[in-house]
Amino acid sequence: MTDTPTLYEVPERVSAGSPSSVPDMNAWRREWLRARNNPDGFWLEQTRDRIAWRKAPTLGLEGSYSTVKDGPFSWFSDGTLNITESCLDRHLEERPDKVAILYEGDEPGAVERITYRELHARVCKAANALSELGLKKGERAIIYMGMVPEAAVAMLACARLGAIHSVVFGGFSSEALRDRIRDCGAEMVITQDEGMRAGRTIPLKETTDAACEGEHSVKSVVVVKRTGSDVGWTEGRDVWWHDVVEPASAEHEAVECAAEDPLFILYTSGSTGKPKGVVHTCGGYITYTSYTHQVVFDLREDDVYACVADVGWITGHSYIVYGPLANGATTMMFESTPLYPDAGRYWDMVERHGITTFYTAPTAIRALAAKGDDFVTKYDRSSLRVLGTVGEPINPEAWEWYHSVVGEGRCNIVDTWWQTETGGMMIAPIAPATPTKPGAASNPLPGILPVLVDKDNRILRGPCSGHLCVDYSWPGQARTVWGDHARYVATYFSTYPGRYFTGDGCRRDEDGYYWITGRVDDVINVSGHRMGTAEFEAALISAEDVAEAAVVGYPHPIKGQGVYAYIVLQPDSESDGGEALEKALNGVVRTQIGAQARVDTFQIVPGLPKTRSGKVMRRILRKVAERDVSNIGDTSTLADPSVVNAIIEGAGLTPPAL
Ligand code: PRX
Repeated sequence: MTDTPTLYEVPERVSAGSPSSVPDMNAWRREWLRARNNPDGFWLEQTRDRIAWRKAPTLGLEGSYSTVKDGPFSWFSDGTLNITESCLDRHLEERPDKVAILYEGDEPGAVERITYRELHARVCKAANALSELGLKKGERAIIYMGMVPEAAVAMLACARLGAIHSVVFGGFSSEALRDRIRDCGAEMVITQDEGMRAGRTIPLKETTDAACEGEHSVKSVVVVKRTGSDVGWTEGRDVWWHDVVEPASAEHEAVECAAEDPLFILYTSGSTGKPKGVVHTCGGYITYTSYTHQVVFDLREDDVYACVADVGWITGHSYIVYGPLANGATTMMFESTPLYPDAGRYWDMVERHGITTFYTAPTAIRALAAKGDDFVTKYDRSSLRVLGTVGEPINPEAWEWYHSVVGEGRCNIVDTWWQTETGGMMIAPIAPATPTKPGAASNPLPGILPVLVDKDNRILRGPCSGHLCVDYSWPGQARTVWGDHARYVATYFSTYPGRYFTGDGCRRDEDGYYWITGRVDDVINVSGHRMGTAEFEAALISAEDVAEAAVVGYPHPIKGQGVYAYIVLQPDSESDGGEALEKALNGVVRTQIGAQARVDTFQIVPGLPKTRSGKVMRRILRKVAERDVSNIGDTSTLADPSVVNAIIEGAGLTPPAL
């Protein structure tokens, strides 16, 4: 790699009052320096120690951020493996009867314990069945499911065949599912009759059928029976999972893959256009998720590890399925929600299962803190040792509540910053070594070289605020965007040439600790769900009454960010802009994106604040949505500056005096 890594300011001071071990921290500091000085050697050592390669790699990183426009960089490219041998086969000798997946369904106590021996057999059966249905190495299978064990089995069965899975979160609409099926040219969809969440059913098969209307590449739809309700059936295309998987052989020879063969595609939202299919590859991804899962959570053999995310997002891929299984851990899968049947559900599970390590999103913590401490304290949480968060910045109050109420002041809190594109955790405390500060993601993990830059790509040193970039690749980094490498290069490597741009703003304090401040692009983060404002806008302007729409995020006490939509009505619209219109527009958003997408606040405006070249000045719209117009900035480049006061007054605010 030709790019020169920049120096990282190693924190020298330690904040008081946190559970910490300074000698351990010094050891991790040395580890960070060792990895920086020889990244290839460091990662080759990690991968050889922790991954079951068929042919061990001798090459580290090839290519660089400077040459990425000519093609993806690679890690371990001369190695071959099947990652399911690391997640399953090799555990058959050391821990065959250890619980691999601890499953809890929607109803409390609906528990299934799947050992490594059983999981291996279930994955082999599924791989044989999917192969019999025609799924081959390199082909794509969409997994559109809720949180049932078969979702993980399906992911692993695809990986065993060398097929590329793309999990689509079960809340997405048929239109969103159709876009993904078409973008990746999926040969197969694996789904359920219905999902279950908080006592309600989710019509997964019906949505799949709607997504498969019209032209598409899907040859088979495999359906897991979850609720037993009647579902539509297309003969010749649809098969029941149990009909094909149960009779299949429990022995299966895993397909040998190259290190850089794609393992999965996961769609994620960006600033512009439709979601991108981010591609992760076998060897690097499994190495990185295994490494980070073990070091950050201080994993021990008898841990009961519970990440309560959904496999539809990257957190579920990396830290429910791949990282924990590669490490031979007991990993929980949870079908329900934190509030079902009441706000004590998580802590009830902690008591019943003896959970040691718990990983969730700040939104859930804020929602639960608002319900009061009794829901927590009535359960025994003495098994807990490490508490993690991910997905959005955690405010210090929520951090303190997690630490003092849930963790009784004795657990390590790890606020982990990372992204779909990074594959695994990047900036995070290492429990129990890192002294923590409420709200800070703290320090980069070994092998990670973050830099903060100004808008001219100049590196900022010492305490500062800037745009967060990373200066050197790591094995878990996404390699491309499915079918559109130019988009990958344009999105991540063109804003700051020679660096990976994360899209996040960040502050570094006097101890060198990193505090992520949120997205600096047009991505919003609602309840830890990443969404593009462009996707909302595309949905809104497709509605009959709407001429133009602009969407921004604004601070929300529970969800992190709320969604604020400015709507310009069609001149001939008869709508009065009231509740009926809002309901209709949210209906359109739900149909085009999914159940997780909803506008919180609508404002009908006479026009959008546009520059003379037609670009919407979002800065102004963000200020109004934040209800702080004291410092609205320069509006002289607007085509029609009068629109600004109309928007401010329309929001019930007073325009600043000029
Ligand atoms: O803005 C950051 C925020 O979530 C974004 C990544 O979203 P996604 O790809 O959906 O992955 C979420 C799970 C890894 C980031 O660009 N984010 C994630 N973790 C944190 C965070 N913001 C602050 N603190 C975090 N710990």
